[in-house]
Amino acid sequence: MEKIQIKEAKGKLGVLVVGVGGAVATTFIAGTFITRKGLGIPVGSITQLATMRVGKREENRFLKIKEAIPLASTKDLVFGGWDIFEDNAYEAARHAEVLTIEDLDKVKDELQALKPMKAVFDQNFVKRLHGTWVKEAPTKWDLKEAVRKDIREFKANNHLDRVVCIWCGSTEVYLKLGDVHRTLPALQQAMKGNSPEIAPSMIYAYACLEEGIPYISGAPNLTVDMPAMWDFSAQTQTPICGKDFKTGQTMLKTVLSPMLKTRMLGLNGWFSTNILGNRDGEVLDDPGSFKTKEESKLSVIDNILQPDLYPQLYGNVYHKVRINYYPPRKDNKEGWDNIDIFGWLGYPMQLKVDFLCRDSILAAPLCLDLVLFTDLAKRAGLSGIQSWLSFYFKSPMHDNDHIAEHDLFIQYIKLKNTLRQLIGEETIDYID
Ligand SMILES: NC(=O)c1ccc[n+]([C@@H]2O[C@H](COP(=O)([O-])OP(=O)(O)OC[C@H]3O[C@@H](n4cnc5c(N)ncnc54)[C@H](O)[C@@H]3O)[C@@H](O)[C@H]2O)c1
Repeated sequence: MEKIQIKEAKGKLGVLVVGVGGAVATTFIAGTFITRKGLGIPVGSITQLATMRVGKREENRFLKIKEAIPLASTKDLVFGGWDIFEDNAYEAARHAEVLTIEDLDKVKDELQALKPMKAVFDQNFVKRLHGTWVKEAPTKWDLKEAVRKDIREFKANNHLDRVVCIWCGSTEVYLKLGDVHRTLPALQQAMKGNSPEIAPSMIYAYACLEEGIPYISGAPNLTVDMPAMWDFSAQTQTPICGKDFKTGQTMLKTVLSPMLKTRMLGLNGWFSTNILGNRDGEVLDDPGSFKTKEESKLSVIDNILQPDLYPQLYGNVYHKVRINYYPPRKDNKEGWDNIDIFGWLGYPMQLKVDFLCRDSILAAPLCLDLVLFTDLAKRAGLSGIQSWLSFYFKSPMHDNDHIAEHDLFIQYIKLKNTLRQLIGEETIDYID
């Protein structure tokens, strides 16, 4: 297999985080600082912990992914970002209450030095938040220019070789794909004309693509999931990926649904409910933002179970997802699933899952992996939708000629096989 020419990961890699003061962002950043000092283990990170088989199967040779693949080192990451609140990353992390003060104090200086740039914000898109650290400009096109200026200054001031951008900002209200999102000229015109169909996340993403910076969409927002942005990412030779980190309940769904299907067990209903008390929970309490999340969470089961092929087993599934804002739990989400299944001759059974998780603890390693992998993609000359990164997302993006893959283990094989292809190794058809 031919090896792809990958540019060396030399110099510093800038990581621009939209929503840099949020729970996920600060947990990701503080955790990266802590682990690179050797004061913690990056649990959950494929790039830092997983191995991959190289050579022939019988050689039984395994290397850590970070040894086999020319990834940037976490020591070379430099963080920056935007938020609608002025707090530095230490103050913001204290507010988020995910990591203990003891842990945060291990990297206090680095976190205090991280001050957000003013955000592009429009309250029509996140009804529950009232931003105070926000850019002003006559048009959305001008705002985009202001973001480009931020990116260039960040790069120059920190002597960076490359930059990637990751959205860890709030979930925006539901937006349907419209005509303005279908072609690049229409999108540009809509930005110049201040169209209400242009969300702040699109302004950041457009600016990044124009600067050739990979863009990762961690929320279910429309943002880069539209033909205009697919075209633009191809034109600017920039990788894009999304949407919505796959961390808790949906990760379990994409493991349990394939189990039911491979055993030809039937499904009548799947009721999922959550309690969550962080700022994300508060934002999702707004019906518009919840609708965006709901769409993202609902697509999973149908895609895996293929009711059109198996109408007797999956033709009549009642699927419901609820998120309840419940402040006492803060970032410690509890997700319950009640799954009504049936077996031989249609006899009913039930499966109950109670996942007492920590939202941002699950999301942080995904952020690190996505940053390192999209930087790799850019250096390898890949552009457009990076479907090999579907492993990390609830609603993996795909263009009109492809379908999404949701099964976690198929996604994992695809991820590792892409890595193998990049370094000229044979692909394999089992999990290593
Ligand atoms: N397990 C998880 O935590 C998980 C999983 C999937 C998706 N997500 C998504 O990740 C995002 C972040 O989650 P979180 O728990 O950190 O939420 P959060 O509310 O703690 O953080 C979001 C941050 O974004 C900021 N923000 C909002 N709009 C902005 C804008 N236009 N520009 C710049 N900053 C902006 C907010 O001020 C806040 O600091 C959410 O959209 C959430 O739905 C999280």
